[in-house]
Amino acid sequence: MIQLKNIKKTYNRGKENAFEALHDVSLEISDNEMVAIVGTSGAGKSTLLHILSLIDCWDEGEYWMNDVLVNDLNETKQAEMRSHEIGVVLQDYALVEDFTGINNVLLPLDFDKAKKRTKKEKLTLANQALEQVGMREFSSKKCNQLSGGQKQRIAIARAIVNNPYMIIADEPTGALDTENAKQIMEILKRLQGNGRIVIIVTHDMNIAQYADRVIRIEDGNIVND
Ligand SMILES: Nc1ncnc2c1ncn2[C@@H]1O[C@H](COP(=O)(O)OP(=O)(O)O)[C@@H](O)[C@H]1O
Ligand SMILES: [Mg+2]
Repeated sequence: MIQLKNIKKTYNRGKENAFEALHDVSLEISDNEMVAIVGTSGAGKSTLLHILSLIDCWDEGEYWMNDVLVNDLNETKQAEMRSHEIGVVLQDYALVEDFTGINNVLLPLDFDKAKKRTKKEKLTLANQALEQVGMREFSSKKCNQLSGGQKQRIAIARAIVNNPYMIIADEPTGALDTENAKQIMEILKRLQGNGRIVIIVTHDMNIAQYADRVIRIEDGNIVND
């Protein structure tokens, strides 16, 4: 379970352009849930996702993952949690464009020195991840030769290769046409379960309807859950 308790986030803290992007956000997400976070542009959706994915820090409040108070973890432990428990998918895919699909998917495994996997073990895991998103046959193509929908599937494979507890996607279909968006949402929906949480940020209600639960955020507050 994920719990945020009274989270506050201020950009440019202490400066004259200080801006409180999250005021007092409390949120609980149970194992196996798929949640959509919706809200207009500037509402604080990405800020919330960056905190959940440990890409950015918060100023006040508590972040719990299962029985671990994330606040208490040092930088190394947080980095470990980010790499083992959290898979991130972004609107613009964020792939290494001149790498092949499989080499993009191998990146998190190569980063993860602690696990001491052999090349063969890593290749097996990467191929399994590619299989799950239906991209096995395109795995040796360079990403700059793939369509947007295919790139996003590679990005999802990269996000799941470490078998994370939580998948966090920021507007994952924002750059895709309706048909590809539908395919991506069906893949994300399939990845929910076995304990795993899926969190999607979107401003598109057609996308939000794939989730079990819709959380609306407005001006840095959760207004509807
Ligand atoms: N790095 C930053 N520095 C200053 N202000 C920021 C920064 N990132 C976001 N903001 C501001 O915080 C608010 C929330 O932004 P964001 O979380 O990106 O919203 P959303 O993803 O819902 O569009 C916006 O007003 C935005 O301008
Ligand atoms: Mg955003």
